Amino acid sequence: MQTKLEQIELSAMTDLDSIQDEESLEQWRVTNLGRSSPIMDVFNALGGLPKEERPVVGKRANEVKHTIEAAYESKSVAIKNAALTRSLQSERLDVTLPGRPIVKGRLHPATQTLREIYRIFGEMGFQIYRSREVETDEFNFQLLNFPPHHPAREMQDSYYIESAIDRGDDPLLLRTHTSPGQVHAMREYVAQSPQDPPPIRIILPGMCYRYEQISARYEIQFTQVEGLAVGKRITFGDLKGTISDFARRLLGQQVRTRFRASHFPFTEPSAEVDFECFLCNGEGCSVCKQTGWLEIMGCGMVHPVVLQNGGYDPAVYSGYAFGMGPERLTMLRYRIEDIRNFWANDLRFLEQF
Ligand code: DAH
Repeated sequence: MQTKLEQIELSAMTDLDSIQDEESLEQWRVTNLGRSSPIMDVFNALGGLPKEERPVVGKRANEVKHTIEAAYESKSVAIKNAALTRSLQSERLDVTLPGRPIVKGRLHPATQTLREIYRIFGEMGFQIYRSREVETDEFNFQLLNFPPHHPAREMQDSYYIESAIDRGDDPLLLRTHTSPGQVHAMREYVAQSPQDPPPIRIILPGMCYRYEQISARYEIQFTQVEGLAVGKRITFGDLKGTISDFARRLLGQQVRTRFRASHFPFTEPSAEVDFECFLCNGEGCSVCKQTGWLEIMGCGMVHPVVLQNGGYDPAVYSGYAFGMGPERLTMLRYRIEDIRNFWANDLRFLEQF
């Protein structure tokens, strides 16, 4: 029995010497320490030995088993370390590899157009006024002269916000246009100096939301830029001059504008503004549908009721307002045919700008 134990130890250790990887080490462990390994056979056979031999053989068998186990542990550590060293060596810095190109970021095309609009109106003395995106029905419609059930609301199907409180005729909604900011701004200016409200020259940019069937021409969200000027003796001539100058600063000195009579509940009189088609210089092309003109914005003189709602006495003050969609302007400029591109976040589209 004693010699057999020596042989078991010797053969286990000899086999272990040549092992280099975890898989063969595991096989070795099963063979030399597993349930039917030779050393385990010795333990199983102990009971059949003469009584006086048992303690001696048992002791030696334990020693052999511990030696094999210890050898297993240290081999296992050695194999893991070798693998780590190998992987570190293969990751050595290769200074001859070409560098990774740095991806250059850029502004979203809608933001680029917005900033150009800010720059131009900034040069003309307008400030940027930011207004909320969640509105009350009162501000989005009623104070702008759209009473409940007014047919002009039809054009602006809305996303209403469920609130815990029943607000009756004044529910919360996502603003359908930037116009409600006009009343917020007027009230804020009036609060600064109630006796003698200061003149206003602002643009109000921001996201608007409408419940639309999404298509190449309609999105459920889009930006608008609203303009508002209020003061004593502001006339339709000021409105025409400002917008025509905006068109020239945006598209060049040669570009012409035209104003067509229209209707908005919050302006009187109201107009639509066309810019001469800047793709064909008014000759007629597919983008302007052979008319030579592109419809760019709505505008008008602020309705007396709206001035009143803002806290400006319509007998003393007058004002003009306009509203445009920068996405539409961007689409015309770059001949983008599908408005869904703006918020789809597709890099193949965005990287072109
Ligand atoms: N709020 C209008 C809309 O979304 C656009 C508009 C038209 C704004 C005329 C104005 C304006 O300030 O004077 O359809």
